[in-house]
Amino acid sequence: MKVAVMGYGTVGSGVVEVIESHSEIIAKRTGGEPLEVKYILDLRDFPDDPHQNAFTKDFNDILNDPEVKIVAETMGGVNPAFDFTMKLLGAGKSVVTSNKELVAQKGLELLEQAEKSNANYLFEASVGGGIPIIRPMTQCLAANNIEGVAGILNGTTNFILTKMIEENMSFEAALKLAQDNGYAEKDPTADIEGHDACRKVCILASLAFGKHVYPNQVEAEGITNITLEDVAYIHSANGVIKLLGQIKYINENKIAAFVSPAVVYNGSQLASVRDVFNAILVRGDAVGDVCFYGRGAGKLPTASAVVADIVDCAKHIFRKKIFGWGAGDEDYVVDYKAELEMPFYVRAKMSQAEAKARLGVVKFLSRTGQPSDEVAFITDNLTENELNSKLSGANVLNIIKVTNY
Ligand code: HSE
Repeated sequence: MKVAVMGYGTVGSGVVEVIESHSEIIAKRTGGEPLEVKYILDLRDFPDDPHQNAFTKDFNDILNDPEVKIVAETMGGVNPAFDFTMKLLGAGKSVVTSNKELVAQKGLELLEQAEKSNANYLFEASVGGGIPIIRPMTQCLAANNIEGVAGILNGTTNFILTKMIEENMSFEAALKLAQDNGYAEKDPTADIEGHDACRKVCILASLAFGKHVYPNQVEAEGITNITLEDVAYIHSANGVIKLLGQIKYINENKIAAFVSPAVVYNGSQLASVRDVFNAILVRGDAVGDVCFYGRGAGKLPTASAVVADIVDCAKHIFRKKIFGWGAGDEDYVVDYKAELEMPFYVRAKMSQAEAKARLGVVKFLSRTGQPSDEVAFITDNLTENELNSKLSGANVLNIIKVTNY
């Protein structure tokens, strides 16, 4: 079966590599049909690459070729990936993608188009790289009401935080290392400011509760304000700092969803997730907590999920896989700062007496080299709005949510 790959960057070149290096096993799994990459679409030239016969700069070569029934979109970004994918689905071709930005922004329209055309639009690689999560959530956990999801969804930031926690490495040096290893987005702002994790939260929330959640409904805070001082205080409380995406079911018409650094205590399954690894913990009312763990970024892990989707499409070429959700609405994601209570880590220039006067009973933390005018503590449960009002006018250095996952 002939396939095309659009975008020959880290993931796209990994997809071509996996299709070629695993051709025998893939043919067994498609039911005997080998996969052959007929086109690779990219505007760049790759003069030393052995696939010269497959390269094209013209999208219409793929769109108008009836032999190509499955296309992997690994271009990233919304445009022109959206236009291309709509046209391919409209022509009855199935599309698989690792493009979380596109699925988070335009998933509803693309899934509707796939439905109309009786084609498949699959996106296992868009969340958690190589970790199986889309099918487990929609199929294996189908008997559960999902109560919440918490995930370490970005490999780059987990890698950076691990280097800060374990090697006392500076943020900049760790980011450079992540980029050199091909984990980071083209613009690493999307990683370190939490936008990449936010897109993945949108996809998970849409799948878990059946209504599209858009990135502008999910507040995202990144890791750029995390310091080695915060790492040390939280270590003294037997915890670590992770960038977490959190989703909580409130009722049929309301969920909470946000991305932020969070204190995770060492007993949690999420605390031991190090390096570029991702983990997604799903809390179901029948199953309890289940955790999906693996490589969330990188060439071959992500390609593994993209190629699995191609194999699935090849097996279901005349059948529709049911993955999807309906329209959401503006008020569907609540203002969690007003509605959710949780403990917070606070670091501030103030005395312990002032901290107690403002917040009542708190748990004070300590670190080597702690200045005499600095305190760090964990509060009791309260909303973020209440916390901010109690700290009004204080010299606060950092606030980090404490998770109950
Ligand atoms: N930049 C992303 C990460 C790639 O670091 O997780 C996978 O989405």
